Amino acid sequence: MIKVGIVGGTGYTGVELLRLLAQHPQAEVAVITSRSEAGVAVADMYPNLRGHYDGLAFSVPDSQTLAACDVVFFATPHGVAHALAGELLAAGTKVIDLSADFRLQDAVEWGKWYGQPHGAPELLKDAVYGLPEVNREKIRTARLIAVPGCYPTATQLGLLPLLEAGLADPSRLIADCKSGVSGAGRGAAVGSLFCESGESMKAYAVKGHRHLPEISQGLRQAAGRDIGLTFVPHLTPMIRGIHATLYATVADTSVDLQALFEKRYANEPFVDVMPAGSHPETRSVRGANVCRIAVHRPQGGDLVVVLSVIDNLVKGASGQAVQNLNILFGLDERMGLSHAGLMP
Ligand SMILES: NC(=O)c1ccc[n+]([C@@H]2O[C@H](COP(=O)([O-])OP(=O)(O)OC[C@H]3O[C@@H](n4cnc5c(N)ncnc54)[C@H](OP(=O)(O)O)[C@@H]3O)[C@@H](O)[C@H]2O)c1
Repeated sequence: MIKVGIVGGTGYTGVELLRLLAQHPQAEVAVITSRSEAGVAVADMYPNLRGHYDGLAFSVPDSQTLAACDVVFFATPHGVAHALAGELLAAGTKVIDLSADFRLQDAVEWGKWYGQPHGAPELLKDAVYGLPEVNREKIRTARLIAVPGCYPTATQLGLLPLLEAGLADPSRLIADCKSGVSGAGRGAAVGSLFCESGESMKAYAVKGHRHLPEISQGLRQAAGRDIGLTFVPHLTPMIRGIHATLYATVADTSVDLQALFEKRYANEPFVDVMPAGSHPETRSVRGANVCRIAVHRPQGGDLVVVLSVIDNLVKGASGQAVQNLNILFGLDERMGLSHAGLMP
């Protein structure tokens, strides 16, 4: 059994990790932290977990207790893994960080977007960006995984086939993305209130969102050159889900894009390329570790429209983190992750 620790167990990605790991035959959650709920039994706070974690209670983060685990997930705001990861890695514990702390390879760039200096630049050389569809081999031997963000997962998986094949003009890419409210976490904020976010939809951070440099970094690697990306996130009145509508121009309109996407993801257990003409729905991936994609070329023109949907808490966070755990420990990548989405 892999002994697992989770820092930040009361947040939405933390409780999603607990839900997924409850079905995982090779992982056992030994430590789960919360500063505000220390001493409270997990199932008392999250009754959906009753019967799964008898005897497990939240505790204050303690590096010695965490270091006794084989792997520690960080489901915390940025900056927390910076402070603790070094000590855990030195003790031989692997780290899977769901926050943005180790996603950008450039510490100065990170500081610019996150408004504080990078807290552990010396660890960046060890960090592997945990997008298995790109970095599977590096993940196998890593000790520090930076799990991609939700918008970056949906956007990169949607655009990678076009950029890797050198088909799309990399200088004019558009990602028009919609997120459910759980993307903002469980912390109380006026914008996340039911009366503020229900029956309404709005764009935000058009000037520049923190996920922009992360998406650009991945797309630049895929294209092998600089890229120009306009990324516009929106808040929508659903609890879970990301819907990315992606636009790219292609010079060669004779290429069979459906075949290109099907071939790129033929061996990927968690990317589903839908039949030509499809419109994936966020509800089809609720609770599932799946990115569902459809590719269109309206009116046969040179503008390609890719539709990419994920559950922000699963393939966009905790599911992808468990996928990384499986790869890291040499298990079947699908272990504990093979359930279908919830319907309706
Ligand atoms: N929500 C999503 O859809 C999503 C998707 C992808 C990635 N992420 C990223 O995943 C991380 C967690 O997101 P979330 O939505 O689960 O956040 P959240 O709901 O706000 O939960 C944050 C958790 O971190 C703990 N925490 C806060 N400050 C801490 C500190 N200084 N030291 C130790 N623990 C601390 C909190 O518990 P206590 O305060 O009680 O300790 C809580 O359990 C974030 O970095 C987020 O950007 C989120």
